[in-house]
Amino acid sequence: MSHGRPRVTLCRACCCGTRPKHSAADHEQRVRALSGASDGAVDVRQSDCLGACDDSDIVVVHPSPTARAAGAKPVWLGRISDDDALEDLADWLRSGGPGAAPPPPSIRDRAMTPPNLPPSRMPY
Ligand code: FES
Repeated sequence: MSHGRPRVTLCRACCCGTRPKHSAADHEQRVRALSGASDGAVDVRQSDCLGACDDSDIVVVHPSPTARAAGAKPVWLGRISDDDALEDLADWLRSGGPGAAPPPPSIRDRAMTPPNLPPSRMPY
């Protein structure tokens, strides 16, 4: 369980992180790279479809509990499907993520409005 760290939920279902939709990517390597690049500073979890397949790969970045208590909200990102975006995301996580540091422009530009999911399907 995370006490003071941001957390990341990676969608891994029909469209995100799958070879049929993103055939050139090594999705498992990306999960390992994100976990490793964060130097243990972030929890990485995987989820079923988050209802935004057209914008795959979907990533939800959750603020640390401390940042959340100060008002930071989860950030939904779409089109995190290339190594550069993943590296920029890892940089942001190392800086503390939502509420602790501003995202790099390449990440900020991929922020999206969460889909209208029932609360039971939200990753938080
Ligand atoms: S498979 Fe990721 S949003 Fe549907």
